Amino acid sequence: MSTTFAGNYPIEHRRGEIERLHAQAAALAPDTRVMLERIGIKSGWSCLDMGCGPRGITDLLSEHVGPGGRVVGLDKDEQFLTYARAHGAPNTEFRQGDAYATSLPDGSFDLVHSRFVASTSGKPELLLQEAVRVARPDGFVALQEPDVSTFSCYPPHPAWDRLMALMLDVFVGVGADIHLARHLYAMARKAGLADVHYRPVLIGIRSTDSMADHLPATVESLRGTLFDRKLVSEIELTHLLEQCRAHLRDPGTVTRSFMVAQVWGRKQS
Ligand SMILES: C[S@@+](CC[C@H](N)C(=O)[O-])C[C@H]1O[C@@H](n2cnc3c(N)ncnc32)[C@H](O)[C@@H]1O
Repeated sequence: MSTTFAGNYPIEHRRGEIERLHAQAAALAPDTRVMLERIGIKSGWSCLDMGCGPRGITDLLSEHVGPGGRVVGLDKDEQFLTYARAHGAPNTEFRQGDAYATSLPDGSFDLVHSRFVASTSGKPELLLQEAVRVARPDGFVALQEPDVSTFSCYPPHPAWDRLMALMLDVFVGVGADIHLARHLYAMARKAGLADVHYRPVLIGIRSTDSMADHLPATVESLRGTLFDRKLVSEIELTHLLEQCRAHLRDPGTVTRSFMVAQVWGRKQS
């Protein structure tokens, strides 16, 4: 198995990263279900989640395809995969691989999905090309990617603004496209998909909701790059995280999520 993987994925596998991804997946689950139902996912289908992390949407795919179906979760991170294997359903297999060069056979899945990989790891056209290759003719390719320009808290707070700026600096510095949602529809059409759909999703988050800690938790997962690039000192970061978390814990504070574009289409036969 190759140990090099395409892209410059900057998010570290620190303690707490699985919880951060789970909170995000839980908040997005209702809208992911809507997307899967609009695609018309059927029991017995074979589905691939590229860059699934510790779960991704494999649980929802597994539920929809049932015991006669098959789900493959693919990721580069062996620790995520160990966790996923311990918690996954019997119709789901997790394997290590490069989402940009999966080595899976051509045309082998009814539905190929990827969320938040192309935006953070880069090279979205290449990832889409690989997704189209492994989808069967008349099968579906679905991507979910963010546009962070909507991500904000009310009332505003200077610690939030500074953490947002730090997060953007890191992502821009590694060549990530955290506004990829804007281009996704055009990209899917250009990749040759037919009947392409576009569904933007926004989530409202209260202090008690699972995703309330998302910005501080994401910045914590970027610590290494923040310090390597001398973007912030350890003392300042600790102070910013405390201040921002105190603000987000206030029952009067709400967060509006980044917009997630759900884009899906059919591979032409
Ligand atoms: C932001 S996480 C999203 C995880 C999951 N899709 C979800 O929505 O919960 C991005 C995932 O992509 C994986 N990843 C990044 N580059 C990859 C590559 N070249 N091949 C396979 N996985 C990759 C990371 O290990 C991580 O699990």
